Amino acid sequence: MKETFYKDSIVLLEGAMNEIITRLNTIKKYKEVHNNRDPIEYISSRIKSEESMKEKLERKNLPITLESALTKVYDAVGIRIICSYIDDVYEIVDMLKKYNDLKVIKEKDYIKNPKENGYRSYHIVFQLLLDIAGEIKPVFFEIQIRTIAMDFWSNLEHQIKYKKDIKNQEIIVKELKRCADDIATNDVNMQTIRKMIMGK
Ligand code: GTP
Ligand code: MG
Repeated sequence: MKETFYKDSIVLLEGAMNEIITRLNTIKKYKEVHNNRDPIEYISSRIKSEESMKEKLERKNLPITLESALTKVYDAVGIRIICSYIDDVYEIVDMLKKYNDLKVIKEKDYIKNPKENGYRSYHIVFQLLLDIAGEIKPVFFEIQIRTIAMDFWSNLEHQIKYKKDIKNQEIIVKELKRCADDIATNDVNMQTIRKMIMGK
């Protein structure tokens, strides 16, 4: 990936991303060993491309500068954590909040408060105080945490944002909303059944 827009700051963005992914991988292994169960199914991450960063700055009426990309937009670094169960999502949220070098900047629980289209996910923007040889560099990153089922849904829903001239848009939007609500019901049911199996 050739990133000219972020200049030398790409080192900070990649450094922050790698730092968090390393922690998450340690959590995965630790939970596997100590609880016999890993609450994270998978993790994905990305540095926002130059093109979509510029598009976002423009959309938000912010100056198209590196400074605003790093300090006014919080998702130059994006990390997504996919869990099997809703309880796992909240467990991850609590674990992340315990790190002393992470400060919550913004938090949205779209699981308790779904978006109108049915979107569910837990979003947190953190500021990481990245320690580079004693120099503290603050880096923002966005974490999205959701269940496999919510992820499945949002990947499909995402496609209507990029497709122009969709036929039957109204029906699609309505059906997506219905699927999102069904998924939410089933996420709760699956969690309940699991607890029953575990004898909790
Ligand atoms: P933006 O980052 O400009 O969207 O700011 P915001 O404060 O509205 O952030 P929000 O937390 O609502 O959304 C951040 C990211 O979550 C988006 O860039 C998407 O990746 C994802 N997201 C939010 N809403 C939806 C949605 O309705 N559908 C899908 N598929 N993804 C969404
Ligand atoms: Mg948004």
